[in-house]
Amino acid sequence: MQDKDTWSGRFSEPVAELVKHYTASVGFDYKLAMFDIQGSLAHAQMLAACDIISTQDLNDIKRGLGQIENEILMGEFAWSLELEDVHLNIEKRLTALVGDAGKRLHTGRSRNDQVATDVRLYLRHSIDDMLMLVKALQGALLDLADQHAHTIMPGFTHLQVAQPISFAHHLMAYFEMLKRDAERLHDCRKRVNRLPLGAAALAGTSYPIKREYVADLLGFDGVCENSLDAVSDRDFAIEFTACAALIMTHLSRFSEELILWMNPRFGFIDIADRFCTGSSIMPQKKNPDVPELVRGKTGRVNGHLVALLTLMKGQPLAYNKDNQEDKEPLFDTVETLTRTLRIYADMITGIKVKPEAMRSAALQGYATATDLADYLVKKGLPFRDAHEAVALAVRFAEQRGCDLTDISLADLRQFSPDIGEEVYQVLSLEGSLASRNHIGGTAPLQVAEAIARARASLSK
Ligand code: ARG
Repeated sequence: MQDKDTWSGRFSEPVAELVKHYTASVGFDYKLAMFDIQGSLAHAQMLAACDIISTQDLNDIKRGLGQIENEILMGEFAWSLELEDVHLNIEKRLTALVGDAGKRLHTGRSRNDQVATDVRLYLRHSIDDMLMLVKALQGALLDLADQHAHTIMPGFTHLQVAQPISFAHHLMAYFEMLKRDAERLHDCRKRVNRLPLGAAALAGTSYPIKREYVADLLGFDGVCENSLDAVSDRDFAIEFTACAALIMTHLSRFSEELILWMNPRFGFIDIADRFCTGSSIMPQKKNPDVPELVRGKTGRVNGHLVALLTLMKGQPLAYNKDNQEDKEPLFDTVETLTRTLRIYADMITGIKVKPEAMRSAALQGYATATDLADYLVKKGLPFRDAHEAVALAVRFAEQRGCDLTDISLADLRQFSPDIGEEVYQVLSLEGSLASRNHIGGTAPLQVAEAIARARASLSK
């Protein structure tokens, strides 16, 4: 840059003040600083290895970037809006510290491939963090599930009592979702982990560079194979945000259940006080703020996904300034997800389960009606006839305001003469659970095995 007011000798007047503020990204992309330095070090090392800059230049650059890193970590680095973004801020400071070597760093490079590299390094790092946090949450779920393979609650469809299940079985459904979430993050990481550097502005560079060497230094699995695609591609950011939106969606559904379960009408659980707040006017209130906020923040992450898709949809190749808008949604997605996963694992640990309330809810709503139908089928009735017989029995119970188990054997036999004394075991909650004894079923034995398999998969 010529001087601090104009971009270069090509410009006859300085950038308007409003425009400066409008176009600057340093206010948020300073978060990429450590990755920018990491990328620059690798680039400089390659330039020296290819004799494009001297060893002396490389040493100066290393020394300068080392000092800049320190200044940033100590909070002493003076970020300047005049210098637009993280890249130019660091480059300018480097030149101030080490002179011409600093000016040579940008040889064979453009901010276009530089920023794409920085964002990929940032995202790779974030994904690795996220994978650990997902694992921790899965661990917390398993610890809770461990204690509740025999805790019976109603399972719902249409939010109406459907069939009895164990609380552990219900929790393990969320374990499965998180397992898929982790798989998706792993898969996304593969496409994040490719090196754009070397694409320069868009067409590549005339210097004899070695891109694979830089990729190796930075731990990338390979290079982006088309220079135009390298600088313009933000698929990886969209993919990551889609993974994040799905994780948030899973936690939002879970939150909705926690909120319902904590309502006294359900009374299935209590959430530790440290995750709740009171009301400024109603002294009796204890509100499940954390799950409510998780549900709310899901909207904002879903919004970021739509923002990124929309950002890309009309862009011609290759780089456009539009791309600068990828950062805030991406950073906010990472931060929201990180904080959510962290707080969720803690909150799960603080859940107090109320088995009696779960049990008494499972005893209402004829949750074992299907078991009675299945029992009649095993006695030889076609399923549709069994279904109808049980429907009549349920109606009978409903009219008397009692449960199926309260109907006498003689009365039950009106609906099917095949019914015997053992029907009361079939109609019991325990009998219902135990009978669903196959992989994926709610039988306590199966759930215990599912938990054991899950534990083994986590320690891999
Ligand atoms: N701050 C820019 C961004 O975030 C860096 C790349 C700028 N490239 C350019 N040709 N103006 O995308």
